[in-house]
Order: sequence, then structure tokens, then C-alpha cells
Amino acid sequence: MKLTVGFLQFKPEFGKIRENTDYIIGELKKHRFDIAVLPELCTTGYLFESVKQANEFAESKDGYFIQSLSKLAKEKKCIIAGGFCERGKEKPFNSQVLVSEKGVLSIYRKAHLFYKEKEIFAKGNTPFKAVDTGKGYKVGLMICFDWIFPEAMRSLALDGAQVILHSANLVLPYCQRAMFARSLENRVFIITANRFGKETNSKGESVEFTGKSQITSPEGEVLLTIGEKTKGFYSVEIDLSLTDKQMNPLNHLFNDKRTDLYNLF
Ligand code: ACM
Repeated sequence: MKLTVGFLQFKPEFGKIRENTDYIIGELKKHRFDIAVLPELCTTGYLFESVKQANEFAESKDGYFIQSLSKLAKEKKCIIAGGFCERGKEKPFNSQVLVSEKGVLSIYRKAHLFYKEKEIFAKGNTPFKAVDTGKGYKVGLMICFDWIFPEAMRSLALDGAQVILHSANLVLPYCQRAMFARSLENRVFIITANRFGKETNSKGESVEFTGKSQITSPEGEVLLTIGEKTKGFYSVEIDLSLTDKQMNPLNHLFNDKRTDLYNLF
């Protein structure tokens, strides 16, 4: 099965959920695709100064972002994943929604919180399970720093995910250099949608994001990469037959695992 898959890289305006959502919808409307991935926290921006401030921007399924995204997925009969600040009990979650023409397929809550995210967000509680898109293939959801824990992507791949939808707000340069290996070792496609730009909050804290969104293949190739500050939607065609785990007549990526020798848990 062949799919057109892509990402939208841009610079969200901090706290402007409506404006950011309208920009996203406007851009995606211009393109034809089967899967689109948006960055982490793509409607709010990243650098919250307090739990209270993050809670002010937290949304639920009935919020403007998810409603707008679901409507677009219905019109275009596609699937879209993107990061948002999800309303929780005391703290919000750093979450990622997956929508199709059927509505919300899944919400994933970031498991591995990066640095001061630990002060703002509640720890994710959704397992790394593949999501059946209902279109003859499965996807996996993950957010930014999750990438550095290989168990996360392995869990998704073992559960049948063929395309990993990775919404990111990367601040370090390593992920983009490393993802070819995650793709290769799990025989999955990975769409990393990153953002660019700098944010500074009232406490004087500052972060700059590294852009360079990319798509990597099960053969370890970088199929598509863009610049640090390139803005817009970019896509490529992928062939899901490459995610077959039979590497040659004698080697199967999962059946050949020597779990009797590993010391993982
Ligand atoms: C990150 O996980 N946003 C670095």
C-alpha cells in the first residue's frame, strides 16, 4: 500500500490557540495527503511559566483544535496527528490527538517528560499501543523526548505500528540524526514534525527549537528533510510493504529476538 505522508513545520504563536489552529487548517487544506503530522503543543506553544498558565490553555476533545482537526479529516478523508495541552485533573497532559474521518481515533499522553515539563504536566498514562486507522494499516503515536527511550518505539512496532507519528518540539540536535536508526531497527516509517522559533517566558527562561522536520524509512534513509526555519507542509510517498519484518529468507526482525539473553526489565 502506498501513502502520501507529510508534516507541517511552523512557529506557533504562544497562547494563541485559535490563530494557530486556523493557520494549521488553512495550510493543510492546500495539500493532498493520507497522513499529516503536526508538532508537539502546536496550538499553545511550549514554554508555560506555571501549571496555572498551562491549565488556562488546556483543551479537551470538544475544544476548538480537536473539533477543527476532526472536521478537516472528515472533509479530506485523511488522518492527522498533532500535539496539544490536554485538560487533566490538577495538571494538564502534554498530549497528541489522532483524528480520521471517523473522529478522534486516539489520544496519547506524553510518557517521558523533558526537563521542566515535569513541573508543568502530569506524567502520561496511556500505553504505547498501535492504533488501527481502519484503512488497512496501523500507526504509533509518540511525542518528542519519547524518541530517546528505544522501548517506546519498539513497543509500538511490536504491536504492529507501521508508521510512527512523532510530534516534536525538539531543542537538541540529536533526534534528527538518530531517527534513521530507530526506523531501521524497527522497520517502520517515522514522521517527525518539529517546530522552529524561540520562546521566552516572564521568568526569563528561554528555549529555541531546532526545526529540521523529517521522514525516515525502514531502510534507514532520510526520505525528506527541511531546513531549521523552513515553514510549511511537506510530503513524500511511502510504500508500506517495506515495513515487513522478514529481512531475508532466514531472518525475521521480531522472531529472531533473543529475549532469553536480554536484561531489559
Ligand atoms: C521535548 O521533549 N519537547 C524536548
